[in-house]
Amino acid sequence: MSDPKREELQVKAKKAILVSVVSPSNHVDKSQALDELKGLVETAGVQVVGTLVQNREHPHPATCLGKGKLTELQQMVDHLNAELIIFDNNLSPSQGRNIEEETGTVIVDRSELILDIFATHAKTYEAKLQVELAQLLYFRPRLKRLWTHLERIEGGVGAGRGPGEKQLETDRRLLDRRVAELKRKLTEVERRRERTVSNRFQNLTVSLVGYTNAGKSTLMNALTGADVYIADQLFATLDTRTRRWQLPHWGEILLSDTVGFVRDLPHHLVASFKSTLEEARQADLLLHVVDSSNPEVEHHIKTVNKVLDEIGIDHENAILVFNKTDKIEDRSKLDVLRLKYDNGISVSAVSGEGLERLSQAVIDRLASGYVIVEIETPVGNGKLLSQLEDHSVIISREYSSDNSRVTLQARMAKRFLPILKICEDTELRIEGEEYPVPQETAPEETIPKV
Ligand code: GTP
Repeated sequence: MSDPKREELQVKAKKAILVSVVSPSNHVDKSQALDELKGLVETAGVQVVGTLVQNREHPHPATCLGKGKLTELQQMVDHLNAELIIFDNNLSPSQGRNIEEETGTVIVDRSELILDIFATHAKTYEAKLQVELAQLLYFRPRLKRLWTHLERIEGGVGAGRGPGEKQLETDRRLLDRRVAELKRKLTEVERRRERTVSNRFQNLTVSLVGYTNAGKSTLMNALTGADVYIADQLFATLDTRTRRWQLPHWGEILLSDTVGFVRDLPHHLVASFKSTLEEARQADLLLHVVDSSNPEVEHHIKTVNKVLDEIGIDHENAILVFNKTDKIEDRSKLDVLRLKYDNGISVSAVSGEGLERLSQAVIDRLASGYVIVEIETPVGNGKLLSQLEDHSVIISREYSSDNSRVTLQARMAKRFLPILKICEDTELRIEGEEYPVPQETAPEETIPKV
């Protein structure tokens, strides 16, 4: 939908004042309160002309900032000729409207800014649909405010007047129709994606997750030799990309890179990107990449785990990858981190340090869920043979002299052992152990992950 009101919200090249209301109980240093927001606005191409931070236990219900600070903000806008005010907080529709009326300036909150960045970075059909859906759902309760933006550029119609209710109604109806259409298109794409992901069943998949800018794409390139777009920007990657990764002494697996996370991701955006994260959900192993040179590293780890919880991705067994070790001056900080998170592996995707250790850790983790089996069965045992084709990597295949029996050696996930259809005339041996004949056959859906 070509919507002039939305285009007006593009924040690129605008002069902006950044504002944050921080609660003293969060122990955020005032001087650092806006660091992350600065990174976000740089990515969005905004020019920062001033900053304002207020310590308040709770944001003011009507204006987020208290009265005195709001006046100060207004004076800054006049003095610095600011065209935009960007809040690090998320604002309710009425807070946004009130501040806009008080300051006479366009207000963008954290969610809106992130949506704007996502809109600029969405490249694929699916990512574009997802971002547009998230934007429309975000804007729906704020339509009235959008009209105020539009009127301001169209020739200074007073901010307070607003559009007629009739126009608003028409807009809402149009918007709802577009939302329904986007949801339908996304369902189609999601169905296709689910098929593709589950078709990859035979291949082991490792998925990279992490805070935005942690170095996931760089690590993917370093490990797989792939050529994935890298930028020193937040959210350079919005789509999941999967590449083949040749693990020494193990063989080929798939490595997928996913969208980066950030604190307070807009709710609609998380919902929209759920399907992009399908790869991570179905992965056999997660690598949680962190920028260990960032002073906020622990905060980033918590944020990523929180988002994974929100979208229902189990991260308990993820391997933490402390990336960018080449940037750390004081190595004792890294030691402290590694002690605290005892499953962490430190690497530098840029210098290559630690990458072999990481590959070995991945192999060890994957191997602990796998066994080598030897199965001897009649060649007509189609059920078992097709199960093996589907769920294992066949290492060797030998036929008896009369071609009536076949002996297969295969590597398979331990979790598949209970579903193998073993008949009386079949022999199954597991490398290094006696095979306990399965008592029950578990339905496939209940098979736990490695
Ligand atoms: P999103 O797409 O935002 O999720 O980012 P990402 O996690 O994929 O990060 P990306 O690989 O795009 O890297 C972000 C920036 O960090 C780039 O400028 C990289 O060159 C840099 N970078 C990545 N890994 C390393 C590293 O090990 N050392 C150093 N010094 N820089 C790194």
